[in-house]
Amino acid sequence: METQVDTLWVLALASKCKAFSSPNTLFLFAFICMAWLALALFYWAYPGGPAWGKYWSKISNKTKAKKIPGPRGFPVLGSVNLMANLAHHKLAAAAELLGAKRLMAYSLGETRFILTCNPDVAKEILNSSVFADRPVKESAYSLMFNRAIGFAPYGVYWRTLRRIAATHLFCPKQINASESQRFEIAAQMVSKIACRPGREFSVRQILKRASLNNMMCSVFGRNYQLEPSSSESNVLGQLVKEGYELLGKLNMSDHLPWLAGLDLQKIRFRCSKLTPKVNQFVNRIIQEHRAQTGQRNHDFVDVLLSLQGPDKLSDQDMVAVLWEMIFRGTDTVAVLIEWILARMVLHPHIQLKVHEELDRVVGRSQPLKESDIQSMVYLPAVVKEVLRLHPPGPLLSWARLSVTDTTVDGYDVPAGTTAMVNMWAITRDPQLWTDPLEFMPERFVCKDGTDVEFSVLGSDLRLAPFGSGRRTCPGKALGLTTVTFWVATLLHEFEWVQSDHNPVDLSEVLKLSCEMANPLTVKVEPRRRS
Ligand code: HEM
Repeated sequence: METQVDTLWVLALASKCKAFSSPNTLFLFAFICMAWLALALFYWAYPGGPAWGKYWSKISNKTKAKKIPGPRGFPVLGSVNLMANLAHHKLAAAAELLGAKRLMAYSLGETRFILTCNPDVAKEILNSSVFADRPVKESAYSLMFNRAIGFAPYGVYWRTLRRIAATHLFCPKQINASESQRFEIAAQMVSKIACRPGREFSVRQILKRASLNNMMCSVFGRNYQLEPSSSESNVLGQLVKEGYELLGKLNMSDHLPWLAGLDLQKIRFRCSKLTPKVNQFVNRIIQEHRAQTGQRNHDFVDVLLSLQGPDKLSDQDMVAVLWEMIFRGTDTVAVLIEWILARMVLHPHIQLKVHEELDRVVGRSQPLKESDIQSMVYLPAVVKEVLRLHPPGPLLSWARLSVTDTTVDGYDVPAGTTAMVNMWAITRDPQLWTDPLEFMPERFVCKDGTDVEFSVLGSDLRLAPFGSGRRTCPGKALGLTTVTFWVATLLHEFEWVQSDHNPVDLSEVLKLSCEMANPLTVKVEPRRRS
């Protein structure tokens, strides 16, 4: 209190004296601007740009540590140009240009980044306990994701959620229990598509709706038809779409804290409108489950309500976890299937090989069962090859944050640095893959027709589309099972043909996932004999 009065007194006196008279004020203002500009240029001159410069200039007297190479970007702003639009392409090109594929430093405002395009360094980062945290993102916090698995800070709460996910939500028993639901939704997609033989149509909406209904069934126990669409799934679809847009945006408030108050991109404003709607929607479903008597579905709400002791979650935390599941599980699956179908249309000789395998393993007169997939080699190879060329998260979606000072690839990396892995660049590296741009599922099949032992689940960082280490995707088994079974069904039932007017365009757009920029338009011909 005393200090405040002191300060006011000094200011009042200063305002009376000449120091604040007009020419002096201008001079002072110009001097401050020049000093600020000189400092900004000084920080910017360091490899990696302003945020790295700020760090190095503070510690350079104490250490002679070698600096990570990287672009300087713009003064103050850093490499914003690299993060706009197709960031994975631009970052890969910058790393190549600077000879920094193993490790590159760059800045985004005041945030220090490191990025690797190398599988060994990726392993070092993703499997290190130092990088088990996520950077704080304002939109993620506003949308409650800090109380869900994806953005919960590394610690007891996050570990509890991961344990619940592994033992209850994504355990093999729970995944097998939802087999009939995947079968039912696949059948609905088939009958919707079957009404359009020889006619051109876009598959995206069908896939997104099927994927949303699938998650609504797993998470909330709701069974909806694709046609007519229910008003409840329409509402949820809109909430997910808005959340996706907000979380996928590069929010400069996260990187320039002095701008945060202005909310220039209106992200905080839009989050504040969305969160109460999500709360209301999910809370209502939780209360309905509580009131329910008799037989239970064993959906995710039931599982969370049955938890006791230290695992028991508050209603607010349950809302966050359930909302994240719907959110994460919907688009990733639909986006990946659209890429797979696009590749099938573009490479009819490969589609023919899948059809031959389906005819051999299942037979044209039989419907496909999930257990048939275990006897297939070529179709899983096709899925892996699409994950290689079109990983839904080319920068592994959500970055990691170092919690303490550490070293990566021999370089010092301070606490509070955001780390990214450019999986897209790794999976297209000619030093790791022969003819990397060729679509060749055969690379995952042995000469004798058995599959090449190659796990895409995170042990081999040459292809780890679900991430790796402590924060690897907990839904990977469920995601892969759904994608593989639905693609197999759609190919078993139809031959997929290029549209006459809208040929397949493999251009990408990077949102939270990397989607086809122009939705896939196709024609189908039925091929099953019942
Ligand atoms: C094709 C499907 C999918 C892909 C490609 C995918 C990819 C990813 C990736 C790359 C990460 C970051 C991993 C890391 O930091 O190492 C991630 C995290 C996550 N995924 Fe998935 N995912 C898919 C499906 C799903 C599904 C179906 C769910 C749940 C229903 C899910 C839930 C999550 C969650 C909760 C996290 C955060 C994990 C944590 O921070 O501890 N994902 N996913």
